[in-house]
Amino acid sequence: MLAWAKGLLGHVPLYVALQRAIGADQLRNRCISELELKPGECVLDVGCGPAYYFERLPAVRYIGFDTDRRYIDYARRRWGDRAEFRCEAIAATHLAELPQADAVLLMGLLHHLSDDESANLLNLAARLLAPGGRVISLDTCFEPSQGRISRWMSENDRGRHVRQPEGFLALAREAFDAVDGEILSGVTRVPSSFWLMRMRSPAHSSTARSLAHARSESLPSWQGVANPST
Ligand SMILES: C[S@@+](CC[C@H](N)C(=O)[O-])C[C@H]1O[C@@H](n2cnc3c(N)ncnc32)[C@H](O)[C@@H]1O
Repeated sequence: MLAWAKGLLGHVPLYVALQRAIGADQLRNRCISELELKPGECVLDVGCGPAYYFERLPAVRYIGFDTDRRYIDYARRRWGDRAEFRCEAIAATHLAELPQADAVLLMGLLHHLSDDESANLLNLAARLLAPGGRVISLDTCFEPSQGRISRWMSENDRGRHVRQPEGFLALAREAFDAVDGEILSGVTRVPSSFWLMRMRSPAHSSTARSLAHARSESLPSWQGVANPST
């Protein structure tokens, strides 16, 4: 029954309507506001889904990656004339061709990825970042003060790697020198807890993009997770 209900979220208009109905769109808007994007900046949105928050962005250069064809088709139909949408997982092989990113969005993604996949992705995001660039992530989390309903929501999320904030922080600190975050609870209409995390200052700035570019063949690829279940 639960699996069937989760499967319905692959129906894109239903996913978008549900996000708005429960107020999850407000969380996305908050992440976007925190980035303080300026027109002309380059934004990479990894796990962009249908990118239903696209209209909230200023006139940036936007590149969205998602492994789900239905989400990418939906996004392309609406905003394909103003943005680039790619139906693939981002990988080290993209280092050579992608522009440097002023901001990387990872909204609702890390809790779908294992520790290794998350570490690879965060490392890649760090390498793709322009000087002064910032990364923001938003994920369902476990936290001590959450009530029973919120805990149930975390336990039954489609993502199979819902963590405590410390778990997300430990992964981020491997790739960034400046990391902080906060728990957001009571912000959606259904009790749920989220971890919003801000990342700056790539940890290995000496391994700059040029080096990463040269070594991209040997960097571990960040493998896509097909058909994630949130
Ligand atoms: C919970 S949705 C979030 C979508 C959107 N960012 C949002 O906030 O509404 C997670 C998305 O990550 C995508 N995804 C999962 N693994 C991925 C991967 N390895 N590469 C790219 N996208 C991935 C899924 O297809 C799904 O659309």
